[in-house]
Amino acid sequence: MFDQVMLGFIGGGNMGGALIKGLTAAGLPRPDQILVHDVDRDRLRDLESSYGVKAVDSLTDLVATATIVVLAVKPQVMNRVLTELKGRLPHRPLIISIAAGVAIDTIARGLGEDLPIVRVMPNTPALVQESASALARNAAVSDHQMEQALKLFEAVGVAVAVEEKLMDAVTGLSGSGPAYVLQFVESLIDGGVLMGLPRPIARKLVVQTVFGTARMILETGRHPAELKDMITSPGGTTISGLQVLEAAGLRGAIMDAVEAATLRSRELGRPQPDAPA
Ligand SMILES: NC(=O)c1ccc[n+]([C@@H]2O[C@H](COP(=O)([O-])OP(=O)(O)OC[C@H]3O[C@@H](n4cnc5c(N)ncnc54)[C@H](OP(=O)(O)O)[C@@H]3O)[C@@H](O)[C@H]2O)c1
Repeated sequence: MFDQVMLGFIGGGNMGGALIKGLTAAGLPRPDQILVHDVDRDRLRDLESSYGVKAVDSLTDLVATATIVVLAVKPQVMNRVLTELKGRLPHRPLIISIAAGVAIDTIARGLGEDLPIVRVMPNTPALVQESASALARNAAVSDHQMEQALKLFEAVGVAVAVEEKLMDAVTGLSGSGPAYVLQFVESLIDGGVLMGLPRPIARKLVVQTVFGTARMILETGRHPAELKDMITSPGGTTISGLQVLEAAGLRGAIMDAVEAATLRSRELGRPQPDAPA
């Protein structure tokens, strides 16, 4: 699937670097098929020496050979990068953007042509190769190209295809989701400390509890409620704890959080009145 591919990264920071790490660990594609360009020369050399990928000092040289171009720069510098790329893509590479909140149309307009574009929303666990990514494509992307894009993001976790109109919901769920989980984890640790456990021990127990529970859901394929019922014995400790969470409205609060983050993402995606055209 990647035999003829030259994968070019523009931006090798947190996300670009994490993707390069995952892809080279998976050998998908081979390191000598991965090019990276970054304005930070030290970072570029680090990526080259750590992963055996090819550091390219000029953006023009990178896009001339890349068959897939990954835009991994911050949304604020995206316009500048698109302007630099404009007119340099006659070979019609697949463009993959991971910039949060930047619509496919904005990228197409910036590049000035109807190129195949995939927009991806990964999340921060990509830094430890456990990202949940959602990918949306425009009409110019072939099924084969979409499969390639999904495979690339599966190298750093799981990846699903969605319609672009669902990207705000993805942002509110898995994009912001690590923060919800972290707040939950922090509260559990504090609960353990409140009940007298030393903090490092509470932390160790909580992190493994969350990790193990996630793994149990994945490996058994059973409904979360069914797994919960298995540890909720009549008149026992767990049902007493659950009663408090229900009374506090935990479930409603979490659903509201996803809704609020989704609506905020939608709002941020709307053209701002003072934004340059
Ligand atoms: N981090 C996340 O959790 C996360 C999650 C989902 C999506 N994303 C998206 O991923 C993208 C990258 O985020 P990140 O956290 O990886 O950012 P980052 O660590 O700042 O990485 C971006 C890299 O691109 C470099 N750069 C800036 N201008 C450039 C240019 N014109 N040409 C080439 N390289 C350039 C930056 O160098 P300097 O540092 O010197 O500017 C930096 O090394 C963003 O669009 C973000 O929305 C990130």
